[in-house]
Amino acid sequence: MSPNEKFMAVRSTTERICSALEKEDYVVQPVVDVSPPKWHLGHTTWFFETFVLSVHAKDYQHFHSGYDYVFNSYYENAGARVIRTDRGNLSRPTVDDIFLYRRYVDQAMLKLLENAGSDVLDLVQLGLNHEQQHQELLWYDIKYILGHNPLFPAYGENHIEKNLKGENPGWVRSEAGVYEIGNTGEGFYFDNELGRHKVYVREFEISTALVTNKEYVEFIASGGYRDFNLWHAEGWDWVKLQGIKAPLYWYEVDGEWQRYGYSGLEKLDLDQPVSHISYFEAYAFAAWKGMRLPTEFEWEVVSSRVNWGMLWEWTSSAYLPYPGFSKAPGALGEYNGKFMVNQQVLRGASIATADGHSRNTYRNFFHADLRWMFSGIRLVR
Ligand code: AVJ
Ligand code: FE
Repeated sequence: MSPNEKFMAVRSTTERICSALEKEDYVVQPVVDVSPPKWHLGHTTWFFETFVLSVHAKDYQHFHSGYDYVFNSYYENAGARVIRTDRGNLSRPTVDDIFLYRRYVDQAMLKLLENAGSDVLDLVQLGLNHEQQHQELLWYDIKYILGHNPLFPAYGENHIEKNLKGENPGWVRSEAGVYEIGNTGEGFYFDNELGRHKVYVREFEISTALVTNKEYVEFIASGGYRDFNLWHAEGWDWVKLQGIKAPLYWYEVDGEWQRYGYSGLEKLDLDQPVSHISYFEAYAFAAWKGMRLPTEFEWEVVSSRVNWGMLWEWTSSAYLPYPGFSKAPGALGEYNGKFMVNQQVLRGASIATADGHSRNTYRNFFHADLRWMFSGIRLVR
């Protein structure tokens, strides 16, 4: 694929994910972590305008002077912005305005790509990988928006959950040794994967399958959410304060578990891997089993020997810089590095991850209480 084709392929995928939505679905922000779909459409466009066109396209004119303020997410170096909790309070720009903004930036990008050097191509690659991350966030956010509507509307036929299935149970043994961890620096990678370094990893066994809904129902039935001994202090506070009794999107109706998916409310499929689990829950479940979660290093060491890619897998590793990590100067240095506190690493990929966007060195990260993403549990013993 030429750079132009690659660019348009990613841009149009974002719009295809949204194409099943009604106008009203594009606007709301039911909780702070969920952004309105129209904000994602604008923000991913702003990324190209700010980091590529403004710097490299001669005489580039901004589409609208107010959009920097509306669509900057968290880049302090890029100036003031709408606070995150207010993203759902913006009736303007309209959805139609934002699609016009996309067309305008696409045209300017295609023109720039006709004659682009490697510095521009590198930035475009980052912009496209950034947009793919937002495609995944769009899947999460659309599910949350529809799944927290009292009518439980379906997304439509063409969705990703059909690909969610379990693996055959089994265990893989990994020998103790010193292993190389991190990205080798070929092809695309995010800065947080660099700094390949040696890590001593002890012998362990890891499950070939993710924990299933069936196993998780057993955990609930045996009182897992009532036994404080299984939980971290913060996890137990979270369970009590939020009244947590089951994974996100699960509902007990007349003694039967149902769950909301993109097809609407349906009977829980017991053979599917359990998803929409917080780190607190993953940890408590592992404790209940008398097992534990893998470290991110263990996960990487066995990544070629287990099938992954269904769900992001919680690891027991704190999201920390690898040795020698340094932030790029300026706004793009804010992309990953400034989040390296109080978050857990998740490894793998999910059914919502864009094609070609996964690597066994990819380090995803979320706070321990979040579970609107496609997260799951793989056990180590
Ligand atoms: C890697 C998913 C935690 O959601 O903030 C989007 C992805 N980074 N825009 C996030 C991201 C910049 C990031 N996560
Ligand atoms: Fe972003």
